Amino acid sequence: MKISRLLLAVILIGIFYGFFKIFFGVVLKQPIPSSLLTMYMFFVVVGILLVLSFTEEGARELMSPIKNLLENPEKKMMRMVVFVIVSVLAGYITYNQIKPSFEAPLELRTIHPAPPSNFSAFNKTYNLLTLENPFRKYAKEDPEKFKTLVYEGGEVYFKNCFYCHGDKLDGQGHYAQGFNPLPANFMDVGTIAQLQESYLFWRIATGGPGLPKEAAPWISSMPVWQNFITEEEIWKVILFLYDYTGYVPRSWEKH
Ligand code: HEC
Repeated sequence: MKISRLLLAVILIGIFYGFFKIFFGVVLKQPIPSSLLTMYMFFVVVGILLVLSFTEEGARELMSPIKNLLENPEKKMMRMVVFVIVSVLAGYITYNQIKPSFEAPLELRTIHPAPPSNFSAFNKTYNLLTLENPFRKYAKEDPEKFKTLVYEGGEVYFKNCFYCHGDKLDGQGHYAQGFNPLPANFMDVGTIAQLQESYLFWRIATGGPGLPKEAAPWISSMPVWQNFITEEEIWKVILFLYDYTGYVPRSWEKH
């Protein structure tokens, strides 16, 4: 049986496609990325068409079924069907590429942007390189006093922060689900365990609006706490955050 050259071309293309898909994907378990597969298939199709249309006669033979379909008056019905199928297929493929989706667009956001070297809050300028928690020293000097400070920090937290950051400091407060980005989960090793107290002070005092350029888009709901609580309350709530989570603030000197 002699098969037409066009059919041969289609079969050969199918065999190559199957080879790339099955041999790499199933046998070697190393599927070819789709962009690469598109590239390979492009060369396969061009190569096969080149080979099959190498001679004048071969080219004519390759194109004859298509020519026949387009020109033969008897094939009118068939022609219509093929046109409809091709248009619908093209429409379907295009639609699939640009299908509307209800998922929130992926946003890349720098969670911990580099802090400025100094910033102002409470009508003062702070140097972040030297800024320290004035209460930290009591952990050693006066443990009783330190305990009271941590307790007071807890009060600040449960009056102001737990709505968003959660009563277990896990970022699961009542309002949390309404925000994107989500409120920080302080239990996660990725937040305060990585940070210095001065960094926290800066973030709490200046909130979402205080974030620098790299942290765009500026959609954080973290409030500007210098407008609502005192400097001392911020230092105390920081003590509480570390005390509750058991993490130790990062510091310049090595321990
Ligand atoms: C209205 C909700 C809301 C409240 C209330 C709130 N925060 Fe936040 N906070 C956020 C969100 C959202 C983020 C994450 C986005 C960001 O980094 O700004 C965040 C981030 C932070 C960060 C940065 C953590 C990190 O890993 O960089 C700290 C520290 C913080 N909050 C402390 C507090 C403290 C302390 C309070 C209470 C005084 C508080 N927050 C109250 C919403 C809130």
